[in-house]
Amino acid sequence: MLKTPLALLLSIGLFTSVSLLADSLPVQAFGTMPDGRPVHLYTLDNSNGLKAVISDYGGTVVRLLAPDRKGQLADVVLGFNSLNDYFTKSPYFGALIGRVGNRIAAGKFSLGGKAYTLVTNNEPGGMPAHLHGGTKGFDKVLWTAEPTRRDGLPALRLTYTSPDGEEGYPGTLKVEVVYSVSKDNGLRIDYSATTDQPTPVNLTNHSYFNLRGEGEGSILDHELTLHADRYTPVNAGLIPTGELAPVTGTPFDFTQMHVIGERINSPHEQIKFGLGYDHNFALNGSSGELRQVATVREPASGRVMDVLTTEPGIQFYSGNFLDGKAVGKSGKAYGYRSGLALETQHFPDSVNQPKFPSTILRPGETYRSTTIYRFSAK
Ligand code: GLA
Repeated sequence: MLKTPLALLLSIGLFTSVSLLADSLPVQAFGTMPDGRPVHLYTLDNSNGLKAVISDYGGTVVRLLAPDRKGQLADVVLGFNSLNDYFTKSPYFGALIGRVGNRIAAGKFSLGGKAYTLVTNNEPGGMPAHLHGGTKGFDKVLWTAEPTRRDGLPALRLTYTSPDGEEGYPGTLKVEVVYSVSKDNGLRIDYSATTDQPTPVNLTNHSYFNLRGEGEGSILDHELTLHADRYTPVNAGLIPTGELAPVTGTPFDFTQMHVIGERINSPHEQIKFGLGYDHNFALNGSSGELRQVATVREPASGRVMDVLTTEPGIQFYSGNFLDGKAVGKSGKAYGYRSGLALETQHFPDSVNQPKFPSTILRPGETYRSTTIYRFSAK
């Protein structure tokens, strides 16, 4: 009689410990939140040269090691060694961004006949806007982390429940983000979310890349290809005018490879507003389908980064607000344009732009988005 339940218990116990072992990831302490909750760093290693170190604070990609053409590893994302630096001086380095990435004009929108006012935490050209989810966006919260696997390789599942009214947004939003590494040196990010009231959602990751290595100078010599025939011009407040303009004949045409620095000082009005590149590109191909949308190559190391996404847009930001005040992981100052961001997204201010693809998530629906940053060298 006793034998069966005991055997059962033993086998369950064994099974649990084996599966925990299989799912475990190297984890390190990374300080504490102001309220005392511990913060961690998890390492995702694909055993083929790609290693990502991710924190549960902000779901932040803190390190990303990728090989050059000689197999030499470098950390290709900007970031800090101390959690306190992330608290006090990070311009969203590596972080998950939400509830709504990029800007909402004047922090205002209407939904279901009700007007909502969000905090304005950004003022380009003297025009106030809500930026990247507000003063305490998803980049500044502690996510719940759970090691897992994807296709047999290490992955990290992060979850966060954003309460109704947080940063002024309606509805309780349950968010899940899974970071995983692939055999072919991809860092994959799968986002999903559900809500109990209609709400805008536009999630992204704000890694700043320098393919020569973080702290190794500017990104102006990086070569960029962007599969986008159109982009969304902005006003002086970096809010889209609503127009989808062709890139042809402008400094925004990266449909064929161009070196980033080549046209960054052009007198084009849009370059002036952006202080360089800080624009959303409307990506070719079908939104909802995972497709390759961008390639960046750094000539000295030969490192190449392909960007694949299901999103309709990408914010190409050339690090125009980096000013050398932040000192990064290897003790070097992050100067002007020393990192670039390619933030996959729905278009900025979509909640106020009826012609843009909708960012409204409703109860019963599931928001889904996937982006892969894939590394190689040539
Ligand atoms: C986004 C914005 C930029 C800037 C950075 C963060 O890329 O479009 O204007 O605010 O985030 O510094």
